[in-house]
Formats: sequence, structure tokens, C-alpha cells
Amino acid sequence: DVLPKGVKALMDNGLVTIPGRYIKPPSHRAVKHLIVPGVEIPVIDMAALESDREKFVQTLCKASSEWGIFQVINHGIPVATMQGMVHGVLELFDLPIEEKMKYYTEEVFVPVRYCTSMTPSQETHMEWHDHFQHYFSNREKEHPWPEKPACYRRLASSYVSSVRHLSQTLMSALSEGLGLDSNCLAKSFGDSEMILRSNYYPPCPNPDLALGMNGHTDSGGLTILFEDQVGGLQARKGDLWYDLKPIKNAFIVNIADQLEVLSNGKYKSIEHRVLVQPDQTRLSIVAFCNPSRDAVIGPLPELIDEQNQAETPHYHFKDPSSIREALQSWISDAWKRS
Ligand code: SIN
Ligand code: FE2
Repeated sequence: DVLPKGVKALMDNGLVTIPGRYIKPPSHRAVKHLIVPGVEIPVIDMAALESDREKFVQTLCKASSEWGIFQVINHGIPVATMQGMVHGVLELFDLPIEEKMKYYTEEVFVPVRYCTSMTPSQETHMEWHDHFQHYFSNREKEHPWPEKPACYRRLASSYVSSVRHLSQTLMSALSEGLGLDSNCLAKSFGDSEMILRSNYYPPCPNPDLALGMNGHTDSGGLTILFEDQVGGLQARKGDLWYDLKPIKNAFIVNIADQLEVLSNGKYKSIEHRVLVQPDQTRLSIVAFCNPSRDAVIGPLPELIDEQNQAETPHYHFKDPSSIREALQSWISDAWKRS
């Protein structure tokens, strides 16, 4: 059997065909004729934020309602910060496997986690990626960090503070897009939390039989993703999957479940997945900007009146299973509506 040390380790050991555990049943594989090459997913120029804020807010609001996923360019984060982070993350994945295994766990709420797929011991069909994940609250000093590589802490701190600032800018504009004060969504998030997750997708000898990541929506608030130029991320609308075409130094932003709920369904938490490549390693660095764990989430009262009923009840964000239950029917209904 395959020990769950990660797919990078498998490939480093010269694997030539994928182990059975990574082979998806035909019904779960990517079907070519249902894939639309990436031309339609919106690209938003953030330079417009300075020149015409109202127009920017409208564009953002439209993209978040019609797609729930878009790319942003001219976002103001220095290329050196992004490249530095990529360097730090690659060094992290290049550590000897014994060093990475110090952090190996299937627990979700641990300060630093290294794992492969999602929860290998419970999965019949694994996903073709390894990942590191760790938590940032606003209480900077308390963060535990991976000890190695030595450069990682400095590079990731700088990246996280830039991305946090970008998320605040977008959240303000998203609040305005709902016709509300710019701090409305941030207030509902409370003392927000950021989770940084880096995904490493090695080349896969049988890419058509596997998936890098299964289709899912993100359970947090707003997701800000940086990827290299390899490609493979797709978003689903109806029965079709749309390629996100990599744009150099852009960020991919997607609405996650809690923003869909807070906006009473106006903004869409879109389903997305990742395909793997036969000959290239793909890296993505994902920042989940989430409400505080004790935030009470529900449709914002300002959005509810006689014509607009609340679509979901209120619940505590800290209870992931109850969120899933509360959202499951709502999300699938959202798809039927779109
Ligand atoms: C994710 O959905 O968390 C990762 C997507 C990606 O790697 O692009
Ligand atoms: Fe995701």
C-alpha cells in the first residue's frame, strides 16, 4: 500500500504509473467536452479603483454575482513579494521528507499542517497534491511557524500582510457592491483569521485518470490565490468547467461560502477543481480570509425586507460541520438557479 507521505515523494522515487488509490472512477474524471477554454472568466483591473471607484465596485459586484471567481491585475502587491513567497514555498516542499513529516497530520485545526490529498485515511480516491497549511490570526506574535527553511518566516510574513491588505480592499468594495457601508462585511467577520495553504502538484504519469483537487466550494469568506503559469484550475458553471488561464503576477479571487451567505446569495461561492499535468509541477499559494471562529454568520439584516427573505438561518462559523449542513441544500439550489 502507499504510505501517505505525499505525491512529491512518490515521484521523487521514480514512479511511472499512478497507484490505484489515485485513479478516479470514470464518473469523477474530467470530461474533455465539458471543458470551456478560459476566455470568459472576468479579469478586473484594480487600477480603476483609483480612477473610478464606483465603476470598479460595479465590475467587482457583477463578477462576484455572475461568476464568484475572477482574476485581478494591477493589485499593487510587489512582484518581489510574490516571487519571494514562491521561493520560500518551493524550499519548504523541497525539505527532506523526514522534516516535512514532523508536521504530517490529518487534523484541520492545527497551527501547521503538512498533508497529502485531504484526509488520506478516509479517502478511497486520493487527490494528486501535497500541501502545507498554517494559521494567522491578528495576534501576530502567537504564530507557530515551520522551523525550516530559514527564509520562510520572513517571506511568508511579508506575503501575508500584503494579501491581507488586498483582501480588506476587496471586502470594502464588495460591501459597497451590496449598497452598504464599506466596513459592513469586515464587521461581520469580526477578528478575522487567515489560513495560508500552499499546494504542490507534481507531474502525474496518468493525468487523465487523476485529479489534483476534487471539485469543491471554499468554506471560508474570501479566497485569494496565487499560481504559477502551469494552469489546471477550473471553475464550474452549470454543467461546464471553465479554465482559468494563468496571467502572470495576477491573483485569482473567489467568493467562498460565508460571503455567499452574508450577501444573502447575491455573491456566489463557485465550485472549482484542479487538473494535473503530465510533465510539469504546479504550485498554488492560497490565502483563505475567514471570519473569526466565533462570528455569527447569516444574511446581513440590511439586505432583508419583505421582498427579500433570508435564504439561510444564522449559525456560528466555528462549527464546520454545522456550516456544511446549513449550506448544502442552499449551495445546490444556487446552482439550479444560475
Ligand atoms: C484550492 O482550491 O484550494 C486550490 C486551488 C488551486 O490549487 O488552484
Ligand atoms: Fe478551493
